[in-house]
Amino acid sequence: MMPTPTTIICLLAFLAVLAAATGDGTTTTTHLHFYIHETFAGDNATTASLAPSPLAVAGSNSSFGSVGALDDELREGSDAASRYLGRVEGLVVQADLGNPAAAWTLLTLAFAGGDYNGSTLVLDGRVDFGAAGDMERAVVGGTGRFRRARGYSLMTKFGNPTPNTGVFEMDVYVTTMA
Ligand SMILES: *[C@@H]1O[C@H](CO)[C@@H](O)[C@H](O)[C@H]1NC(C)=O
Ligand SMILES: *[C@@H]1O[C@H](CO)[C@@H](O)[C@H](O)[C@H]1NC(C)=O
Ligand SMILES: *[C@@H]1O[C@H](CO)[C@@H](O)[C@H](O)[C@H]1NC(C)=O
Repeated sequence: MMPTPTTIICLLAFLAVLAAATGDGTTTTTHLHFYIHETFAGDNATTASLAPSPLAVAGSNSSFGSVGALDDELREGSDAASRYLGRVEGLVVQADLGNPAAAWTLLTLAFAGGDYNGSTLVLDGRVDFGAAGDMERAVVGGTGRFRRARGYSLMTKFGNPTPNTGVFEMDVYVTTMA
């Protein structure tokens, strides 16, 4: 069937609506840089072990299947007294049968001050805490200022200020639609 002029006009109208719905493609990329402060043990622990590995039997050091939760602090600097920016809350699951094993992590960065107060970013990724170099995660979404966010984060171990605390440095590159 030959397309009639009416069909063509309808098609053009549909394409015009589609173009409007997807916007002009303008995006903004924001670089965030901060430090994650974690306390492994003690009165003010920010991590909790929820379930041990069902494979952690005598003679095996597998951690497969263990689950932990965290509610770490986000701060501007590596110093525990530097400006407070919010929390990083989520799960760490040992989801790798290999040895050494990587972990699957699902984290929400919840900003509590500044331009992004009340906004969140959701990070998802497989990380090997034992490996040297950057640990990369995907930014899979966000809320507030970060609605429809996409991007990636890079994290490195900064150090252990005390035996019970650890500091990680993180850079996040977030793209949002204008
Ligand atoms: C826990 O935090 C409180 C309040 O900041 C502090 O007074 C206390 O010394 C901390 N406890 C430990 C074991 O660090
Ligand atoms: C325990 O882990 C170490 C290092 O991850 C590995 O070299 C060793 O073979 C493991 N031992 C057993 C019994 O699985
Ligand atoms: C962040 O937003 C909350 C809720 O609107 C407000 O109570 C709080 O004072 C804000 N914090 C900062 C540091 O701006």
